[in-house]
Amino acid sequence: MNATSHPGAIELRAASLCDAAVLADLRLAFIRLVKTGGLADEDEFRAWYASYVGRSLARETTLAWLCLAAGSPCGTVELRLKPARARKAADNSAPRLEGYVSGLYVDPAFRGRGLARTLMQRLIATSRARGLFRLALHAYPDAEPLYVSLGFRPFRRLMVLRLDEPGSARGAMVHKTSTPHMVPRESVAYG
Ligand SMILES: CC(C)(COP(=O)(O)OP(=O)(O)OC[C@H]1O[C@@H](n2cnc3c(N)ncnc32)[C@H](O)[C@@H]1OP(=O)(O)O)[C@@H](O)C(=O)NCCC(=O)NCCS
Repeated sequence: MNATSHPGAIELRAASLCDAAVLADLRLAFIRLVKTGGLADEDEFRAWYASYVGRSLARETTLAWLCLAAGSPCGTVELRLKPARARKAADNSAPRLEGYVSGLYVDPAFRGRGLARTLMQRLIATSRARGLFRLALHAYPDAEPLYVSLGFRPFRRLMVLRLDEPGSARGAMVHKTSTPHMVPRESVAYG
């Protein structure tokens, strides 16, 4: 995919069940980059992942977003929703939800244009709207500065963003929303 042949016009939208195969392709591209030696059987993985992510999108235990350039997928991120462990065994209140962020990936031809930041901002806004109290992820070193700028902080082997603390990460998000090299607002359609 060539960024220059599709100037602007990047669409960001929530993924649906119909996108399971596309999400599997993007996950495979991500794994090729991060897993030394790659995968023994990519076709088997693709089929398994499409089925897995399709089921979890249908149950809404996974949310995902896609960036599309002229209709072609060029970026993604996924969020797994899960109940947090109760603090005390005797606590009968409904479990709070937390989210695990995975698979942030942008096609090399589209990097450095703010797509990853925009995907993460969308994920964080949706997590707040759904009342999640915390986001966690395992960061690859190259992506760490991005997560820090969005308010994530190292916690054990993870990076964590608390969403239930007054003002948590809002400063960083507001500041970064006005970053000049981000995808122009008018070229991003939110689905
Ligand atoms: C990491 C990745 C998602 C960034 O995508 P991107 O769309 O190019 O990122 P953005 O343009 O939104 O940049 C966001 C910030 O991250 C920084 N950044 C991005 N890639 C970086 C890199 N390789 N090294 C250092 N900083 C980087 C940018 O400088 C930017 O900060 P700024 O806005 O203050 O300038 C992309 O390089 C990628 O897909 N990498 C391979 C998969 C991967 O490592 N995913 C992360 C898993 S934790």
